Amino acid sequence: MKPSLFSPARRCRFVILISGRGSNMQSIVQACREQAWPAEIAAVIANRAQASGLEWAAAQDIPTAVVSHRDYPDRAAFDAELARVIDTYEPDYVLLAGFMRILTERFVQRYAGRLVNIHPSLLPLFPGLATHRQALEAGVQVHGCTVHFVTPVLDHGPVIAQGVVPVREGDTEEALAERVLAVEHVVYPAVAAWLAQGRAALDAHGRVAVQDVASRAFGLSTDGAAQQYGGKDGI
Ligand code: GRF
Repeated sequence: MKPSLFSPARRCRFVILISGRGSNMQSIVQACREQAWPAEIAAVIANRAQASGLEWAAAQDIPTAVVSHRDYPDRAAFDAELARVIDTYEPDYVLLAGFMRILTERFVQRYAGRLVNIHPSLLPLFPGLATHRQALEAGVQVHGCTVHFVTPVLDHGPVIAQGVVPVREGDTEEALAERVLAVEHVVYPAVAAWLAQGRAALDAHGRVAVQDVASRAFGLSTDGAAQQYGGKDGI
């Protein structure tokens, strides 16, 4: 394995963008702390001042900022200001965690290979909104989440990791969302750890390479806990 780009002396800096409760952001912050990654959460930024995750982040002494999309005439102006604020925190990676704005191509190109998103479906199935309803309507028997590098095409970038859950008889959208969220809270921190350790990157062909991983697939064990497939403590 190549030496990590990041070390306790040169910590990987994450900026996390949220729009709401930020439970994925919280799972990343907690894993970063508990697993002592060579990383820090440089800031949590929201496009809505009411995003409840902001309060939680501030209580952890993480710098927070709000860039409200309502204050800008168009997407280009909003994205330009968002990028300006992000860059003041000098991130290595920008993590979208329930950030509910479509970003311009210019913004995405600026952070090419450094912009990561979590989407609540097994991409390329069900891009866009209401993914749990889409899954129930399609009658699929497995559903899940995808963490991917962001490209200009919405919900289509190279897959870094996925988490799978069963769809159960009689599932409601809410029940399915809750089951997917449990696996999201394991998959996104795992990916952030790989990034923090300098183990995951996009190669010249736009494919994801992660060094020394048993698999990039996660699922639920029989007791309902989300785990990695093939790992020593996994399923
Ligand atoms: C998650 O399901 C995420 O996959 C989707 O929006 C939801 C955000 O939840 N993009 P939270 O704000 O992280 O709790």
